[in-house]
Parts: sequence; C-alpha cells; structure tokens
Amino acid sequence: MSFKLTRRQVLAGSGAVLSAGLIRPVWAKTPSSRLPIPKLVDATDGNPVDLRIGEGQMAFLSGVSTRTLGISQNYLGPTIRTRKGTTLALHYQNTLSEGVAIHGHGLHVPGDVDGGPQSEIAPGAEWKPRLSIVQPAATCWYHSHTHGKSGEQVYRGLAGMTIIDDEESDGLELPNRYGVDDLPVIIQDRTFDTSGQFVYSLTEAPEDGWYGDTVLINGAINPYANVPAGKIRLRVLNGANARFYIVAFADGRSFFKIASDGGLLSAPVEMTEMEMSPGERCEIIVDLEDGKTAELLTLFEDDYDAEGIGGSLIQSLLGIGRPAPAPALTLKADPSLKAHTGPLPKSLVTIHRPGEGEIARTRDFILDMSHADDTSHTGHTSHTGHAMMDMTINGAAMNMDVINERVSRGVWERWRIRSNQGEHPFHVHGCSFLIDKISGAPPPPDQQGWKDTLVLDDDGWSEMIVRFDHLATEQFPYMYHCHILEHEDRGMMGQFTVS
Ligand code: C2O
Ligand code: CU
Ligand code: CU
Repeated sequence: MSFKLTRRQVLAGSGAVLSAGLIRPVWAKTPSSRLPIPKLVDATDGNPVDLRIGEGQMAFLSGVSTRTLGISQNYLGPTIRTRKGTTLALHYQNTLSEGVAIHGHGLHVPGDVDGGPQSEIAPGAEWKPRLSIVQPAATCWYHSHTHGKSGEQVYRGLAGMTIIDDEESDGLELPNRYGVDDLPVIIQDRTFDTSGQFVYSLTEAPEDGWYGDTVLINGAINPYANVPAGKIRLRVLNGANARFYIVAFADGRSFFKIASDGGLLSAPVEMTEMEMSPGERCEIIVDLEDGKTAELLTLFEDDYDAEGIGGSLIQSLLGIGRPAPAPALTLKADPSLKAHTGPLPKSLVTIHRPGEGEIARTRDFILDMSHADDTSHTGHTSHTGHAMMDMTINGAAMNMDVINERVSRGVWERWRIRSNQGEHPFHVHGCSFLIDKISGAPPPPDQQGWKDTLVLDDDGWSEMIVRFDHLATEQFPYMYHCHILEHEDRGMMGQFTVS
C-alpha cells in the first residue's frame, strides 16, 4: 500500500524547491483545434430538451476515430440553460444496449427527478423528468450515475453542463455571452490505446481511481479559443473520473473566482491558482485586456504531491525559470471582437449563514478504504490479481436496498465528515451546503460560498452546514458519496431520504 502525501500536507510542511524533473509536458501537441463549444439548448421556455443517449465516434487524435458515448452529441452532451422560477423538462432516450441513469449534479430537485441509480433508464426506454428550478444562478452538470457503471459511462462520454440563471446574476456586470466571453471548460483525462480507443477498467483501477494521461477540454486535446480582448468568464468543471487538478495560467497572471459549485460568491476572490476536485465547478474571470494570449494550465495535482512546494505552485514553476507545462487551453485575444471591459462588481450576492442555534442535529460520516493488500478482508480479487478494495462510508458499502440516513425536510444540520485514508471529494445530492471547517480549519474565502463537493483529507474532521428543502422517498432516495467515480462504483456511497 502506498501512502499518499497530499498537497495540502505538503503546503503545510516544508518549503523545499520543486524539482525540475516534475515538469513534464502533459501533451506533446501544439494547439491545433478550436475549443469545441457544446451546443447551447435554451430550456427556459419549458419545452422538453431532447437528450438522446447513444454511441458515437470522435477524432480526438489525428487520423483515428475513437468509439464514444454521447448525449445528442458524439461525445458529452449539450449545455442546458435553465432559469430560476422555470420548469426544466428533459426527455431522455436511451439508445444503448445497457441501462443508464443520468443525474443532475448540483440541482435542488426532489429525489424522483434527481436521476440517482434508482432512475435507471432501460435500453430502448425513455425518461421524462420535469424539474422545478428554484435555486440561484449556478454552473451545474449532468452525468451518468448508473449503479456500478458511473465511472465507465462518464469516461466514455456521458456528461454535460447545466447553466442556471436568475435575476440577481442578470443584474451583475459579468460576461455572459455563451461561447464568446462565457465559455464552458470541461476538464477530463483519458488514456488511448494504440488503436486510439479509450482504455478503462474499474477492476484494474488503482486505489486513487482511474487516471488518464491525456487531458481533454470539452473533448479536445490542447485546443485554442479566439476571445474578445476583455474579461472572459470560464465555467470550469472538473469532469474527470478521479484526478484533482491545479488550474492556473502559464504566465502566473491572477484571475478572480466568482462562483463555486452552488452559485456566486459574496465577492470575487483574486487567485493565481486553484485546486479542483472531481465534480467541482469554479467560475473564474480572467482579463485579456492586455491583448496577450492566456494559457490555461491544468496541472495534475498528484504530480506535485510528494514534492515540497512552498506557497504557490505556479510561482514556484515560474521562479525556477522553466518553461511552464503545455497549456490545456489557449485563449487568444482578438481585438476585432466586442469586449467586456467594465470593472468587475465589488460584491456579488448575499450568502445567509444560519446561526448556531438553528442547527438542529449533527451526523458523522467516516470514509474508508481498506488496504489494497488486505485481500483476506476484501474477499474479491480481479482477474489480474489486483485486490479490489472495500470502499465504505460508516463501515457500509453502497447497497441499493438500504437507506443509510433519514433526514427531515427544511431543518439545518451539521454534517461532520472524515477520511481514514486518502483524499476524497465528498458530494451530496439535492442541496448546496456551506463549509464550516476543512480539516478543522475555517475555509478560505473562495470556499465560503455554496458548495456541493467538499475535499476530505485524512487529517481530521471537515464540517458542513446543510438543509434539504425537497423530498426524497425510499423509492427515490438521494445519495452522498465520494466523487472519485471508481470509489463511488466500489461502494463509497450511501442513500438517504428526506421527509
Ligand atoms: Cu455528480 Cu452523485 O454525483
Ligand atoms: Cu450529485
Ligand atoms: Cu474517494
């Protein structure tokens, strides 16, 4: 069993210099293709959005086509634009020969339209959920949540973005022209075999989950986008199965984070790099008024784990005078395009935190993975002899017949969560929550807004304050789980009702 020293522990420890050997190009290619912008489907008129789940083909690599899955596209799905106060009608059609459940990640909707594993759509069948959108503006997403197959189906392409607007966000001076100065940036990593096909195996996945060696942005390797020479909003989604990323710009320029998973922050937070866990969304504003090309880096967090990095990773990279790693996305300023140049609003939205007296109860969750070499305990071994690990929460692996927690609607609760081993992005359905503590410490300003993912480390309790306003029945319960999809598929998930 390998002990994984996490970046957070490293940051707290030594200030040793980053070793040059770590700077390996993530891609060998120069920017060759335009950033694909998933088709925008405006669903605010309440008409059903046709979402056809099917097989596809994509030329990710030159000269070969890769077999994929997609949702009304060859790979990934359209961006669905909806609005607070409207009904979002979805019309899924499953044309695959296997069942698929598609979950609306980040949506505050009842369990029967949440798209958990109980809502599996049989081969050839349809599913037409109608969702009342009652939550504030946010960047959410949808993806496969099929029992035991989420990792594989997301890897092959079953995911897409959902954008929620509201009056408050309309009233703020933020770039909002989709595909022009408001861009979806879906980060994923994939490994291709020698014939250009995706390589994936749940049973052979190492304990940290399935990592790919090639980064895709909206399904393209190292693309570029021509954007106005002004403020650009990036809706960054870490849509990877397992990998944590450090997102930064190659010249070390700062940017402003304006939104986390559940919506806008109270004020923009200036940053030069941000860590993103699987499932997490961050909206950022980067300024291209200087006319210079901005290269977005998506560094593999695990590459830097075991090294001593003092302070900022991007500053360390620049400070040792090495060329930065190849960009994941190149933003080229085009002065002929109409630019958003006004100042960024000083404040964004008001975030109401409940008082201590309003928190009615506390629940504890402990995430565990037994040792990889402890086969006597796990009982199962894959055909290659790799031990399958038991992935559990509070000692139990996901069982679709067991309701693990029963929650009352409309009541604030404190959830305390810890990991016994490793780093896990904990996600909860049907809500956004506020982080109260990360490993015992107060969250930094950019983590003080609404969230639905919380990164746990094996160094103490993290705490969130959460309330559920919608029903989830025993037939259609909500899930809480680790968003490393291989951990989820191996059982690091539980079910709860809201009544
Ligand atoms: Cu994005 Cu239950 O997941
Ligand atoms: Cu979710
Ligand atoms: Cu995990």
